[in-house]
Amino acid sequence: MSTSDSATTIRAFKQAVNMSPKTLAAWLETPESKEVGFKSSEGGESVGHHSGRRIVDCGGIGVASSGLRVVENFLDMGHFPYVHTGTLGKVPHTTVAPYRVAEDPQTHELWALDCHFYQPQASASAADGIDAQYRYRVMQPFSAALYKSCPNRAGTLDVIALFVQPLDDEHVVAHCLLVLFEDRLGDAELIGFQHMIFGQDKPILESQRPRRLPLEGELEAHMRCDLASVSYRRWLKARGMRFGVHAPATA
Ligand SMILES: [Fe+2]
Repeated sequence: MSTSDSATTIRAFKQAVNMSPKTLAAWLETPESKEVGFKSSEGGESVGHHSGRRIVDCGGIGVASSGLRVVENFLDMGHFPYVHTGTLGKVPHTTVAPYRVAEDPQTHELWALDCHFYQPQASASAADGIDAQYRYRVMQPFSAALYKSCPNRAGTLDVIALFVQPLDDEHVVAHCLLVLFEDRLGDAELIGFQHMIFGQDKPILESQRPRRLPLEGELEAHMRCDLASVSYRRWLKARGMRFGVHAPATA
């Protein structure tokens, strides 16, 4: 990654995101911001509000890692029992069942489908363990979402979205948004649970070397459960992604 590539990417990001963090935080509290979001063709209230789901902005957390590693970690179920012990996973429920990955031919978004994993506490207010159904969606290299079983309302899915704001190739702010059914807990408890989960991922992300994500070679072994990771790396490579990517030293 050359300096000019990084400078071009950062300049483009700043043009697209034209609010400072302080201004953005203030705007998110306004009625105007609450009207935006995905809407049906008839307009009106955004889909999340209309469905009765809560929309909770969990804010951003700084991570000293490539944003691509942060997204890759978001797609990984294999670490649940070891890193999020007692919430998103629990030994001996360590097996990642076979799932499939597909690229949407029209949007070119990457999807991991038919995923499921046993979770002792799938959300902040979950009372019992469930076999949580998952779908992962990668919209852009630094934007992803997961749709998972809502423990409080059978047959429905909650949404957790991750938007990674790169500061440079190896430092990001990871922003998280929840769209979920939740009648009991307040925003602070929901945000606290999410920060607790992310706080468990953060030191692992920051300890990975190289900090930038390798797209070539055999730097890191992969198993079958890593299908989403392998597919994400191939998807990035096919896009010619270079920002946040590890470039092996040439002899
Ligand atoms: Fe995690």
